Amino acid sequence: MVARPLIIDCDPGHDDAVALLLAVGSPHVDLRAVTTTFGNCSVEDATRNALQILTLAHATDIPVARGAEGSIDGKSTLGNYVHGASGLDGPPMPEPGFDVSPETATELLRRTIESSTEPVSIAATGPITNVAQLLLDHPAVKDGIHEIVFMGGSTERGNHTPTAEFNTFADPEALDLVLGSGLPVRMVGLNLTHQALATPAVVERMAAMDHVVGRTCAAWMGFFGASYNRVWEFAAPPVHDPCTIAGLIDPGLIAWRDAFVAVELDGRWTRGTTVVDLHQRYPDQQPNVQVAMSLDAPRYWDLVLSAIDRVGQRS
Ligand code: BDR
Ligand code: CA
Repeated sequence: MVARPLIIDCDPGHDDAVALLLAVGSPHVDLRAVTTTFGNCSVEDATRNALQILTLAHATDIPVARGAEGSIDGKSTLGNYVHGASGLDGPPMPEPGFDVSPETATELLRRTIESSTEPVSIAATGPITNVAQLLLDHPAVKDGIHEIVFMGGSTERGNHTPTAEFNTFADPEALDLVLGSGLPVRMVGLNLTHQALATPAVVERMAAMDHVVGRTCAAWMGFFGASYNRVWEFAAPPVHDPCTIAGLIDPGLIAWRDAFVAVELDGRWTRGTTVVDLHQRYPDQQPNVQVAMSLDAPRYWDLVLSAIDRVGQRS
């Protein structure tokens, strides 16, 4: 089996943390670099959290570079009303066992892509600012990108606002740039991730693992679940971000549909909302995105939990 080269651009975040563990624990992907962004917390906090998560996973050989402090046009929207003041509130975490890279996120992205013999996949699980900045600063890297899979948007409802999902609200101009890049793009939106619920049965399977990694995941779900219950009245939290990695590892876990996708930049109430044309209502617009539609949730959790267990067993 040839492992697919992967970069994760993230804002950890409880569900970003599980996405990192899924990538580290999966033999199907080769996690070459992690870049961080503002989003669930400040970029400083997101960077420390990424270093701590990879330390917990004994994956301190994966370079981590700090990225955008705010959106392409300089705004900083934070989601710490969901993830707590640190961005990863809940169980204690180990001190970072390694240093952040001296490179910027865009430099690490560029160097990792250019030095790979295989085209690299990028999973973006926060505001997509770093990826847009990469395409602006180094357009030639496009040749080395296999595809961009992003968590964000929805075919239906929002969460940060009634219609806009948090990541797409936080930097719609960046997403607009990525959608217009001509690169293969896949969207994993709330319509999909709301099928990836960490039910009590899932959390029990995490807690029952005989290692700190499993128990930490269970405690993360406790904090994240309480936020989802308080803000959106969910009985169990949707674990969004690992769906991007799961879709790379096993595309058959998810049913995909080609569609034209745009993001609203100007709406008075709808800024950051994705417009997903599932029924060709804009006949002049060609499909530009593969949109995730439905998830095989039992298979998803088997994949995620076995990766977490693999990471925990070797830690
Ligand atoms: C997205 O926003 C954050 O809360 C999560 O990490 C996820 O990436 C869901 O809207
Ligand atoms: Ca995220």
